[in-house]
Amino acid sequence: MFDLRQRGVLGINERNRAYIMRCNPRKFYPLVDDKYATKQLCLEHGINTPEPYGLIQTQRDVKQLAEIVKEKKRFVIKPAHGSGGNGIIVIDDVRPIPDAEDLYIKSSGQAMRMPELFFHMDNIISGLFSLGGKSDQVLIEYCVKLHPFFKDISYKGVPDIRIIVYQGVPVMAMLRLPTRASDGKANLHTGGIGIGLSLAKGQTTYAVQFNRRISMHPDHGHALTDLVIPEWDTLVALAAKVESVLGLHYVGIDIVLDAEKGPMLLEANARPGISIQIANNTGLKHRLDAVDAALPGLATMEDKIAFAQARF
Ligand SMILES: Nc1ncnc2c1ncn2[C@@H]1O[C@H](COP(=O)(O)OP(=O)(O)O)[C@@H](O)[C@H]1O
Ligand SMILES: [Mg+2]
Repeated sequence: MFDLRQRGVLGINERNRAYIMRCNPRKFYPLVDDKYATKQLCLEHGINTPEPYGLIQTQRDVKQLAEIVKEKKRFVIKPAHGSGGNGIIVIDDVRPIPDAEDLYIKSSGQAMRMPELFFHMDNIISGLFSLGGKSDQVLIEYCVKLHPFFKDISYKGVPDIRIIVYQGVPVMAMLRLPTRASDGKANLHTGGIGIGLSLAKGQTTYAVQFNRRISMHPDHGHALTDLVIPEWDTLVALAAKVESVLGLHYVGIDIVLDAEKGPMLLEANARPGISIQIANNTGLKHRLDAVDAALPGLATMEDKIAFAQARF
């Protein structure tokens, strides 16, 4: 019988009470809840993140998009306060049509025209995708180039790597892969695949989709376990660095791996989900307790990373 407590599975109430409330001062929430603000802070600290092309704050200004992306074939539109992949449009290509408007091609292959993008941005600003329905801003940013490592195992979109960092120590990691169902985004509830990763090597261990174990990618059948993520140590160090500049000490850091620019910070989450435990087939509790016990002996960021990679 699957005994949750014995396996150290962290539930949502305990996560909130024992970790989020204790480790994440409320005053820093606005910073991580705003993807544009997080990005600015990262840029100030020399942390690699997709370049912001523009921020649009009012419905009157949505037409500025045409100017902002004039020279670009690839870009991403997202709500600055969005979550769960909602409201994100990944544009992969622009196709000029003689005597008609250009077509903007989403990573799913579906085409959109500029007025549809304006309409979508209007919806973002009116709060359709933001926490609590509050009015929002539109962030337009660099579209990450798929790293060749992911060519076989992703489906029309860019995977991301979620790392939970607790008190400066990376404690659990998962790779999320877009699927046919998830429309160019890697978020799990949209149909993305979650794959547990060893912190030591970035090796894939166990894969789930819709909380059920799978052994191969549902769209093309490639095997998903025993792969090793490239540039793993840089990626883990990036997660630890972001935690240290944010001032939050129980955070989910989302990182993407760009074919040319390497690991980049996508966003940080002050309330990281608990399903990472399902993807790793392991509970968080034992790891968090191990960190608490070891913390007095871990002085530097390097010590904390070395501890994580030796233990997890
Ligand atoms: N700049 C980008 N380039 C390519 N894909 C992106 C980009 N930004 C987001 N995505 C896709 O959308 C997913 C969710 O993005 P994220 O910024 O983490 O927003 P959310 O808060 O909605 O999770 C990512 O996992 C990735 O698959
Ligand atoms: Mg995310």
